[in-house]
Amino acid sequence: MELSTLVVAKKTKNRARHLAVLLLLVACACAGGIEPAGGAGGRWDLLQSSIGVSAMHMQLLHNDRVIIFDRTDFGRSNLSLPDGRCRVNPRERVLPRGDCTAHSAEYDVAANAFRPLSVFTDTWCSSGTVAPDGTLVQTGGWNDGFRNARTMPACGGTGDDKSCDWSEKQDALAANRWYATNQILPDGRAFILGGRRQFSYEFYPKAGPSDTSVVQMPFLVQTKDPEENNLYPFVHLNIDGNLFIFSNNRAVLLDYKSNKIVRTYPVLGDGDPRNYPSSGSSVLLPLKPNPTEAEVLVCGGAPAGSYNSTKGGAGTFVPALTTCGRIKITDAAPAWVIETMPSPRVMGDMILLPNGAEVAIINGAADGAAGWESAKTPAYAPVVYRPDHSPGDRFEEQTATGVARLYHSSVVLLRDGRLLVGGSNPHTYYNFSNVQFPTDLSLEAFSPEYLDASNDMLRPRILDPSPTGAPTSVAYGATMALQFSVPASVRRRHGGAAGLLGDVSVTMVAPSFTTHSFAMNQRLLFLDVTKNVAVRGRASTFNASVTMPATAVLAPPGYYMVFVVNGHIPSEGIWVQIQAQQ
Ligand SMILES: *[C@@H]1O[C@H](CO)[C@@H](O)[C@H](O)[C@H]1NC(C)=O
Ligand SMILES: *[C@@H]1O[C@H](CO)[C@@H](O)[C@H](O)[C@H]1NC(C)=O
Ligand SMILES: *[C@@H]1O[C@H](CO)[C@@H](O)[C@H](O)[C@H]1NC(C)=O
Ligand SMILES: *[C@@H]1O[C@H](CO)[C@@H](O)[C@H](O)[C@H]1NC(C)=O
Repeated sequence: MELSTLVVAKKTKNRARHLAVLLLLVACACAGGIEPAGGAGGRWDLLQSSIGVSAMHMQLLHNDRVIIFDRTDFGRSNLSLPDGRCRVNPRERVLPRGDCTAHSAEYDVAANAFRPLSVFTDTWCSSGTVAPDGTLVQTGGWNDGFRNARTMPACGGTGDDKSCDWSEKQDALAANRWYATNQILPDGRAFILGGRRQFSYEFYPKAGPSDTSVVQMPFLVQTKDPEENNLYPFVHLNIDGNLFIFSNNRAVLLDYKSNKIVRTYPVLGDGDPRNYPSSGSSVLLPLKPNPTEAEVLVCGGAPAGSYNSTKGGAGTFVPALTTCGRIKITDAAPAWVIETMPSPRVMGDMILLPNGAEVAIINGAADGAAGWESAKTPAYAPVVYRPDHSPGDRFEEQTATGVARLYHSSVVLLRDGRLLVGGSNPHTYYNFSNVQFPTDLSLEAFSPEYLDASNDMLRPRILDPSPTGAPTSVAYGATMALQFSVPASVRRRHGGAAGLLGDVSVTMVAPSFTTHSFAMNQRLLFLDVTKNVAVRGRASTFNASVTMPATAVLAPPGYYMVFVVNGHIPSEGIWVQIQAQQ
């Protein structure tokens, strides 16, 4: 354990004079770290007991609102459409003569308020990306929504909000996409992969009205087993521009431009399935500045046969997998390294925390599989994984919630560092009673330990370019000046002169489209901090200069949250839109 010196400058009555107080504190600057005095394990808060819609899919947009939606053919939700509107859709399975309830909602984080949105064709088990201009582009679904594309803009907050809603484009895709995965590409298009009985990929937006091209992907056929554990495949954009695609129990690296498999990865561990319905989860671990390597971590899942064994009169609920596999996807001879979680988990979500030092594994169950009535033991306690700690010292169980977050639950990172958690609808309809795990319409926040008040002295605050967090535009490879303050500024004992920050990093995080235990498009990059200087006369205020990623392969164009991180304590983020110079 390393001791760090804290230099704290307090303002005296005379603004020109400052009293420097030296404190010796222990800071987390080593493997193992320290447990803060209070708040270890994080905290849960109930934000809304009901938003009326179950959060099967969630996406945070750069207006700090979260677009939430369920499926539409599920009977009446608990949220009415505005202005007495009703949806009459003859292809609707449950209420073809009219449904006056909403199946999507917009959650305003700052106001802790929500409003109904209108989505009229079925979004069940669909996927999405956020376009470079910040519009949510959501694709696929079921029935009348199989091949639809829908957009939802980040509304301006200027009073026109009420008319700001979903737009739907019927049959915009070339193939049915139900349980497909989307990944944003460096050119801003979505790569859309798989789905039930779809062993192919396509791109959206289309080149033109006559573009109905679909590219076959035999790997999805090869990884289809009798339970179809190849759905919602995990897709990550590698730093070489190829796509890492994990399905069932193994992965390939796809050059999507030439439709060539350029690398084949070994089977993960014993070959247990990790994709829907044996849903595990997967993240691309945080990328260093100008990265030369990239790693993927896949955690949890369910043994083959778990889904089937829950069915029938005497259904049994098999314990979920406790293992994770970690692999350097950039290696010429890649190998999985197996690690063991503190507890089994299926349908867990993996979310990169903005400090770049931790991955939250949250939601899901300890047994069964994804599907209707297919899990019996909720996993109430999240786990944090610290990729840079030594093996054997990476997992830490967190504070438990009391709410079961089973099938059709989801989670997204918010700009303030909390995780927004919602959903759970493990039945065929909105069943609020007479079932073991009623459909859940609540929203909770999980505040990781770094948000505990005991860390407030160490928490950076970004003052410039955007004290309010409002979006700033940046170009690839550009430098961005960041001014931030820290109540107590930490420097390493052996590093730098007094007043210089030591353990400060800057991260940039792409908000995810989360559904079915996979946070699509999630990406965290450490930015190169080229210099940081204390602003004269204000010892706790610092100027830093950071370099944006050089290419759209490293960071596809669009909106990201940028955080200043002191040790492992992140600031509130600001939004930046990265784009090619006009
Ligand atoms: C649904 O709404 C009704 C009426 O507003 C309310 O009484 C009920 O508790 C709600 N149910 C759920 C599960 O939120
Ligand atoms: C699961 O059940 C389906 C449908 O009954 C069957 O076709 C399949 O072979 C079963 N798979 C396994 C792994 O038991
Ligand atoms: C859920 O409710 C529907 C009708 O609202 C009913 O038909 C169905 O059997 C229920 N499912 C369960 C698992 O209770
Ligand atoms: C720090 O940044 C602010 C605003 O970004 C700028 O006005 C100021 O000159 C900078 N100070 C130093 C010492 O670099």
